[in-house]
Amino acid sequence: MTASPLFAEGETLWSPHVRANPFPLYKRMREEFPVARITDPQLGQHFWLLTRYADVVSLVRDPRFTQDPTRLPEEVRQRFFGHKLRSLSRHLLTVDPPDHTRMRSLVSKVFTPRRIEELRPRITEICSELLEGLRAQGPGGDFLKEFAFPLPVIVIAELLGIPPEDRDRFREWTQTFFAPPSKDSQEKTREAHQNFFKYLGEIFELRRQQPRDDLISALIAVQEQGDRLSAEELMSMVFLLLVGGYETTGNLLGNGLLALLQHPDQLQRLREDRSLIPSAVEEMLRYCGPFELSILRFAKEDLELHGQHIQAHEAVRVNYLAADRDTEQFAEPDRFDVGRTPNKHVGFGHGIHFCLGAPLARLEAIVTLELLLERLPELRVATAPEKLAWRPSAQARGLVSLPLAF
Ligand code: HEM
Repeated sequence: MTASPLFAEGETLWSPHVRANPFPLYKRMREEFPVARITDPQLGQHFWLLTRYADVVSLVRDPRFTQDPTRLPEEVRQRFFGHKLRSLSRHLLTVDPPDHTRMRSLVSKVFTPRRIEELRPRITEICSELLEGLRAQGPGGDFLKEFAFPLPVIVIAELLGIPPEDRDRFREWTQTFFAPPSKDSQEKTREAHQNFFKYLGEIFELRRQQPRDDLISALIAVQEQGDRLSAEELMSMVFLLLVGGYETTGNLLGNGLLALLQHPDQLQRLREDRSLIPSAVEEMLRYCGPFELSILRFAKEDLELHGQHIQAHEAVRVNYLAADRDTEQFAEPDRFDVGRTPNKHVGFGHGIHFCLGAPLARLEAIVTLELLLERLPELRVATAPEKLAWRPSAQARGLVSLPLAF
């Protein structure tokens, strides 16, 4: 018997009803199409998609795949990355070992847990101010616009040492980088990349002359010690720190808060026992994590996965959100349980590319929940569930807006 096709006529991974609830589709993929061929209708690109937990953790550690575009034939590179600015594309997610090992050990030196924990008082202050702003909007104020998206940009900008007066420009570029991809948006993205690149060059020069106690100065110091981080890598790294934490953190806060508000029993449990907040954050990462499709990996050689032939230089992605609902790994995976243990989710990825910013994202989410529970005892969604719209992106799962009432 042949399996019925994965998609109904006209349906794609990006169809609005799939975006609203991709989980039935992912269940079918795990069961019947563990290596599915997907076409991105906007960009006309094809990639293979893996959805089973065991396959996901194994593929991201498989040395037969590369994340480094410079290892691809020019034609493939152009097709997938043609619109990106070269000078911003040499970072942790686009290199393999040994370059990855070298770069990661250098950044880990300056992006330490101690540095992150020291941020707690300042993050609490920023969250407090944003919450007041949200409250001032009155009923219907959008949690995403007023709180969840500004928070990670302000935090990373401060950590990097971007002057407060440049923050708005910084935020604008970030938003452009995350505009839904289309052929028309490519020129705008390229322009934003160029301006951002030029701006960072100026900041680097200032910090080189007069170092401060910030991440950019620390990265420059690392670069100058024996030139182990090239100028291009330094620029790309700062770019990745900015973009890596923006949409992801914003969407985690939005998706996670919605899940809590849609599960009043779990919200009540959290109100009664705040020591569950860190585990609630882990459950949000698993149940409604924002990083749905991984970045692209490419086969270095012809190979087979579950009987599916994959040719050298074909693109493959893993689906972290689908893996985190796999019954082979989680008991009752569709249940939202703020006290879930064990919870070895892959919301932050897995293996050598495991999210570098995880401690920072966790801290921002924990502080946000602490403040929301403390200050807004009557919190609820200010619109009917069917009116909530999801963004068209399948890479970053998130709502268009989340209006609140308190
Ligand atoms: C990598 C998720 C926040 C920086 C990753 C990966 C995932 C992820 C899934 C691996 C990508 C792949 O395998 O294709 C998330 C989520 C976040 C978050 C869910 C928030 C809730 C942040 C923040 C930063 C950051 C705040 C930095 C300020 C990075 C970097 C990498 C990465 C640098 C590349 C690591 C490497 O290749 O060695 N993240 N991230 N992320 N993330 Fe995050």
